[in-house]
Amino acid sequence: MRNVLVTGGSRGLGLGIARRLAAAGYCVIAVARNETSQLNAAIEEVQRAHLGALHFVPFDLAGIREIPLFVRKLRKEFGSIYGLVNNAAIAFDGALAVMHDSRIEQLVRVNTLSPIVLTKYVVRSMMADGGGRIVNVSSIIGFTGYSGLSVYGATKASAIGFTRSLAREVGRMGVNVNAVAPGFMRTEMTQGLGSEQLQQIERRSALRHLPDIDDVAHAVEYLLGDTAKSITGTVLTVDAGNTA
Ligand SMILES: NC(=O)c1ccc[n+]([C@@H]2O[C@H](COP(=O)([O-])OP(=O)(O)OC[C@H]3O[C@@H](n4cnc5c(N)ncnc54)[C@H](OP(=O)(O)O)[C@@H]3O)[C@@H](O)[C@H]2O)c1
Repeated sequence: MRNVLVTGGSRGLGLGIARRLAAAGYCVIAVARNETSQLNAAIEEVQRAHLGALHFVPFDLAGIREIPLFVRKLRKEFGSIYGLVNNAAIAFDGALAVMHDSRIEQLVRVNTLSPIVLTKYVVRSMMADGGGRIVNVSSIIGFTGYSGLSVYGATKASAIGFTRSLAREVGRMGVNVNAVAPGFMRTEMTQGLGSEQLQQIERRSALRHLPDIDDVAHAVEYLLGDTAKSITGTVLTVDAGNTA
């Protein structure tokens, strides 16, 4: 069974990706700080269905220095890592002019520094094992912008730059690197947006709805699969035509 590490796999999009990949027969290692009841229900569901596997490993991805040991432990426990989905992120909103420096630093640490360092240690093992797949979760905000989300937007735009350059660097070692750029979905991250704002986003989208978590999870499954073997360095937008 192919191991896939999904960061932020305890809820929201990450859990949706974890469920989908387990149903497709992967052994999913979901990483987050805290377990959730939804994740535990999904673990039981996967066990009952006898398809892939779903495991939870608690880890605070903001602890950059602990990442090398964390990856070593995962390799020891699960074996080689075929896929990495860099999904975990935080999204504080607020005007940049009054945002506390510690918040800016935290956003960049969790959304940018951490996935880059995690990828460094995971890609090393992929190269040694003859290949692998990396999917970085960006956002349409990385290219459209959104008032009050400048730091978050900077981290999501950087995920695209990282994807493109790394794809060129590790392609000859059999590692594909892509990004998905979801539009607004209904998760805890968007709870701060009022239903009016979400309805307005729906009205402005070509397909007049928001993408579901599972729509994005399917895109990630595709990028990890054998049929995407010739796709690298791309960004797959799943936003129901919000940016069309
Ligand atoms: N929701 C949207 O509309 C939307 C749109 C475009 C892109 N995205 C992107 O989609 C991804 C998932 O977003 P979401 O809406 O599913 O967010 P979410 O519901 O807030 O979930 C975030 C996940 O990341 C984990 N996480 C956060 N900080 C962590 C840390 N320091 N260490 C380990 N895990 C951590 C959380 O678990 P713990 O808190 O327990 O650690 C949780 O599992 C993000 O990259 C986001 O930028 C979301």
